[in-house]
Amino acid sequence: MCGIVGILGKTPVATNLVDALRRLEYRGYDSAGIATVESGTLVRRRAEGKLRNLEKRLLTEPLEGHTGIGHTRWATHGRPTERNAHPHMTAEVSVVHNGIIENFRELRADLEAKGHTFDSDTDTEAVVHLITHELHAGKSPVEAVRAALQHLQGAFALGIIFAGEDDLMIAARQGSPLAIGHGTGEMYLGSDAIALAPFTDVITYLEEGDWAVMHRSGAEIFDKDGVRVDRPSVKSVASSLLVDKGNHRHFMAKEIHEQPEVISHTLANYMDMVSGSVRFPELGIDLSKINRVTISACGTAYYAGLVAKYWIEKVARVPVEIDVASEMRYREAPLPADGLAVFVSQSGETADTLATLRYCKANGQRIASIVNVRTSTIARESHAVLPTLAGPEIGVASTKAFTCQLSVLACLAIAIGRARGSINAAQEIELVKGLTELPRHIAGLIRNEQPFIAIAQELSKARDVLYLGRGTSYPIALEGALKLKEISYIHAEGYAAGELKHGPIALIDENVPVIVVAPEDDLFDKTISNMQEVAARGGQIILISDAPAEKISCKLAAHIHMPKVSAFTTPLLYAIPTQLIAYHTAVVMGTDVDQPRNLAKSVTVE
Ligand code: F6R
Repeated sequence: MCGIVGILGKTPVATNLVDALRRLEYRGYDSAGIATVESGTLVRRRAEGKLRNLEKRLLTEPLEGHTGIGHTRWATHGRPTERNAHPHMTAEVSVVHNGIIENFRELRADLEAKGHTFDSDTDTEAVVHLITHELHAGKSPVEAVRAALQHLQGAFALGIIFAGEDDLMIAARQGSPLAIGHGTGEMYLGSDAIALAPFTDVITYLEEGDWAVMHRSGAEIFDKDGVRVDRPSVKSVASSLLVDKGNHRHFMAKEIHEQPEVISHTLANYMDMVSGSVRFPELGIDLSKINRVTISACGTAYYAGLVAKYWIEKVARVPVEIDVASEMRYREAPLPADGLAVFVSQSGETADTLATLRYCKANGQRIASIVNVRTSTIARESHAVLPTLAGPEIGVASTKAFTCQLSVLACLAIAIGRARGSINAAQEIELVKGLTELPRHIAGLIRNEQPFIAIAQELSKARDVLYLGRGTSYPIALEGALKLKEISYIHAEGYAAGELKHGPIALIDENVPVIVVAPEDDLFDKTISNMQEVAARGGQIILISDAPAEKISCKLAAHIHMPKVSAFTTPLLYAIPTQLIAYHTAVVMGTDVDQPRNLAKSVTVE
């Protein structure tokens, strides 16, 4: 959730640390800080709020050290104040940390009893004092860290520097990602390769339990048992990734507009558009024999999985079990022998999704992951990786990653259906054709944003908004509500349209806009009946549908006219208006669209 960086440089490192942190701000932006070694002494600057506050601070109070660490925070323990901002330090050692030290209370009590005084409310400070304690006992920095790591429980990535040690940085990884970058006479540390992209493209990813002793000349890596290990260096493609807003006001807007292109790329990776067939990579499991698919993910990625449940059950006639990863990891769910478990994650680092993956792997499942970051931990721990080709998604609210996840899942449903013989070649061609036409329809839809801006003006006055849908439109209703609430801060809920009369209908009055996602499919008439129930109670209906006016018998506040597409592909297309409605409502509300409050792009804590 937090982002960490470190540089052993030839010149002062403060500017480059801030530059790297800017690329990690998507991981958290509650506060930021850096510390360097200056003439043997540890010096730090920290600031509450976004990175620009730290930058301002550094203008008047610069840091000159050539060795330094930096941090951008998403608060877990302690309020997002300067006092709780990283780096945390004593006179001897300074630490940046991503993750959670689960036993910090016990450690803190023990260290306080031994005379240590804590300055913050964070779990991280326990690590600082633990290492300091070992140094006071006469250990060298490397031995002190080795000893301290034995006592830490939880998930963490750490970057550590020491007073009097200008050519030393220690990194440790357990459950949170960490990459070492190799320069010429310089070394780097970062939560991901994108942070290090301006400095180097030669990256070594630390494995679970690894820790590394870094000097300007290179890094020695040890595994969790302290055994020296060799980890490969890979050439990262992160530096070639463009991370700017183009002509758009926000990353989210840019990412919404990229969808025709990135969906095309993703589909082309899994389909042969000429023959009209799906060309799916080997998953190492006989798809014709599977009798259950397990899907798990969090947030938006979970809703992509929920659409896939409908698709796989309908097209491939295989039962799908799906659960949010934060529940599934503790449910001790029984799993079928030799089953297929599919994990969906943009970042590939979500802690709950990763933990559920490990549970399923330990229980004999074949693991396939749909990730946007191919070098991520989830990708590396999977038997088969099915990448989404969305490119970097910077806006915290997921848009293009979601529709690319749906693209891969649609192909998976077709691949399983073909393998099991529940669809024939002609049906496969029909489904593939529908998918092939989608990017064109999406491009048409986003060409004119005026209707969404008009709806946004009205929604911005609402306190609560409901989203309704049936079948595959139900997960889209859930996703639409999530998008609206996370960036506009307006309370929104998604419901299965048929559930309305079992409780939520009590909320309806003339002040509650109800967004109905209703393609003209087999379920359309049922959804329209539910819509009439809303209209009868004065609800303001915003309909997203391809149905002609004569099929809609009640008064609408607005109608987003959708192009006709194949029924199979509607969730992909109907996701787009929900994104645009959320985006423009947030713009009207004046919220921080790309970095909404309390959120982070990569959720590496449970
Ligand atoms: C919402 C959103 C989150 C993520 C969730 C999982 O817009 O982006 O709900 O979908 O945190 O993240 P990943 O996909 O990285 O596992």
